[in-house]
Amino acid sequence: MADRYLHFTGTAPGRFLTRRLGLPQPAPLRRWSPGTPSLDGPLLHLTAGESATTKELGALLAETGLDVTGQADRPAAIVLDATAVTTAGALGEVHAALHPVVRSLAPGGRIVVVGVRPSAGDHHQAAAQQALEGFVRSLGKEIGKGATVQLLRIEPESVASAGSTLRFLLSPRSAYISGQVIELTDAAPGPVADWTAPLAGRTALVTGAARGIGASVASVLARDGARVVCLDIPQAADELTRTADRLGATALPLDITAADAAERIAAAVPQGLDVLVHNAGITRDRRLANMPADRWASVIDVNLDSVLRTTDALLSSGTVNRDGRIIATASIAGIAGNNGQTNYAASKAGIIGLVRSLAPRAAADHGVTVNAVAPGFIETKMTAAVPLFIREAGRRMNSLSQGGLPVDVAETTAWFAQPASSAVNGQIVRVCGQSLLGA
Ligand SMILES: NC(=O)c1ccc[n+]([C@@H]2O[C@H](COP(=O)([O-])OP(=O)(O)OC[C@H]3O[C@@H](n4cnc5c(N)ncnc54)[C@H](O)[C@@H]3O)[C@@H](O)[C@H]2O)c1
Repeated sequence: MADRYLHFTGTAPGRFLTRRLGLPQPAPLRRWSPGTPSLDGPLLHLTAGESATTKELGALLAETGLDVTGQADRPAAIVLDATAVTTAGALGEVHAALHPVVRSLAPGGRIVVVGVRPSAGDHHQAAAQQALEGFVRSLGKEIGKGATVQLLRIEPESVASAGSTLRFLLSPRSAYISGQVIELTDAAPGPVADWTAPLAGRTALVTGAARGIGASVASVLARDGARVVCLDIPQAADELTRTADRLGATALPLDITAADAAERIAAAVPQGLDVLVHNAGITRDRRLANMPADRWASVIDVNLDSVLRTTDALLSSGTVNRDGRIIATASIAGIAGNNGQTNYAASKAGIIGLVRSLAPRAAADHGVTVNAVAPGFIETKMTAAVPLFIREAGRRMNSLSQGGLPVDVAETTAWFAQPASSAVNGQIVRVCGQSLLGA
């Protein structure tokens, strides 16, 4: 269902009327396509105070091929190195750096504040670095014009680990992500021979890939060079085959809740799996008082239990290759809760628990990262079926005043999937336009 309001506010009378009425002003968001530049202008690299990482960060930004500068009238992006902000007083440096330039940021611009993890042993440092989170979340809400603001926490000793993440955040691939805090580990990035095909030679399996977000994930992984296996229920076999054929992928009709699902996946990928995307999901909404046990159980089984079972089996059988990536699908409903979705929200919150607990062990034992996307309101058949009033609320109740597209979730998945994203582990990244629901 097309977003007619977004279209209307793009016309002169629509803009005039909606401004007069004080209604939301969604800006059209640019998505990335091969051959187009990541940024439509220079990248302003600023530092709050004296930072030991500035030189290395500058070199890393220069490697991206972006036009990095210390001064720009109309920057398309701003990276502020705030790693040296260790006291409340030093927060003034953040204001001093961004206050003069924030208004000049181009429409659809990107701001990335680079910080470090709040320290357990130094409460002044912890206060200052945690302050950046409130700062970024507020700036994301006020900046407007389709611009986004994120906080990226790096390990100062491993600046190079941030390369794939900076490329993602400083591009239209992250168009529908704002107000997020992403924390990197010190894991060294895997090699990238060609940034235009970062998944070349990798094998990926996407569950629920016949349609919707899963089909888009499969498409973006294939675009980035991966050999893709598309899995969906046998009842969706025709749609699945069409999607797989279109992408030059392999179709695997299989119910992910089947007892032998993991063995059948392993048999379909004799070369092993480099990227496992748990995207299949269902809703069976009812308030708890009206919810029969079967509606509860089916949602928990598809959205959570099958993810736990297949992940365990594919990791322990060695089907997930070393340096592999496991990417699960949460939801902002799993963070904020939702009326009529106790089963769904429980399953999606369970995914968050799984990711946070397994990530460090999977990295230590198997060299595998485990992350999740948490989509907000994404324009799919599922959300087109939502009643008009709730649909409109879902679309507008975020900093970008519009719904996201399946490709926004797919681009996030593709960033997690990259060999160069080894330092991205245990992260729950919301693809929700900074929804007002949840943190
Ligand atoms: N659309 C949104 O706004 C939104 C928001 C938050 C989270 N999500 C999550 O994103 C994922 C994809 O959502 P979507 O909107 O594309 O949904 P969708 O219903 O369009 O697609 C889901 C796919 O999963 C498949 N599937 C369901 N049960 C399966 C099973 N047992 N085995 C294998 N495949 C199965 C379906 O056949 C379907 O093709 C889901 O996990 C969903 O919960 C979506």
